[in-house]
Amino acid sequence: MKKFGVIGKTLSHSLSPQIHENFFEFYNVSGEYKKYEISDLSEFILFAKQNLDGFNVTFPFKEQILDYLDEISPLAKEIGSVNCVKVDGDKLIGYNTDFEGFKYYFDHFVNKDSISNALVFGYGGASKAIISVLKHLNVDFVVANRTLEKVPFDNKLSIEDANAQINHFDLVINSTSVGYNFDSIVSNCAYNENAKLIDINYEPYFTKFLKDGINLGLGVKNGLDMLIVQALQSFYI
Ligand code: ATR
Repeated sequence: MKKFGVIGKTLSHSLSPQIHENFFEFYNVSGEYKKYEISDLSEFILFAKQNLDGFNVTFPFKEQILDYLDEISPLAKEIGSVNCVKVDGDKLIGYNTDFEGFKYYFDHFVNKDSISNALVFGYGGASKAIISVLKHLNVDFVVANRTLEKVPFDNKLSIEDANAQINHFDLVINSTSVGYNFDSIVSNCAYNENAKLIDINYEPYFTKFLKDGINLGLGVKNGLDMLIVQALQSFYI
C-alpha cells in the first residue's frame, strides 16, 4: 500500500485526505493519506523518509521545506515554494502543483485577454505560485501585503492603498489567510463593474470577501478548484 499525507500546522479543516481517498478509489490504487499536524519539520522529515511515499505541504511550511529537499523541480525552484514532495529512496524531490491549480482559473473562469491587471492580496507560499502564473500569462499584477518589506519587487502596495485603488483592478485575488474568521481583506468594495474575485480559501465556502462580491453581482470563485487540481497533479507525481 502506498502511504501519503499532508503536513501543516493546523489541518482540522483540510479536505486533502478526502480528495486523495477518492482518487485512490477512482483510479483503483491501494493507498492511504493522513493528516500530519507538526511543529517541527526536521523530525517529520526522518519519519517521512522511512514511512511515506510522498506528502503535500501546506501553511506554514511551503518555503521552509526547501532546506530539506535533495532535488527541486525547475518550476518549484522558480516559484520558491513547494507543496508536493516525492520520497524516492532516501531522496526528497520537491514540486509545486499550486501553479497548475491556480492556472485552472484561467482555463475556466477568467479570460486572460480581458484582464489588464490583477491585484494579489498576500505574499506567502501560495501567493508565489499565483504570481508565477500571472507572470507566465503576461498579466500585469500588483501585490498587497501586510508586511510590505517581504515583497522583493516594486509593484507592491500596502493593504490600505490597495483598498483605496481597488477599482483599478479587473481581477482581485485573496491569497492571505484572512477569511476563515469571517473577516475580509477588502474593506472598500468599490470594484470596477467587470471585476472578478478569487479567494484561495474555501472554508467557509464563500468567505466575506466573496459574499460581498456576489452581492455586487461580480463573478467569484473560491479555492476549491485550485485545491482539487493541485491534488490531482500531486497524485500523478
Ligand atoms: P500560505 O502558505 O498559505 O500562503 P503564508 O505563507 O503564511 O501561508 O502566507 C500567509 C499570508 O497571509 C501572508 O501574506 C500574510 O501576511 P504577512 O506576510 O504580513 O504575514 C497574510 N496574512 C495572514 N494574516 C493576516 C492578517 N490578519 N492581515 C493581513 N494579512 C495576513
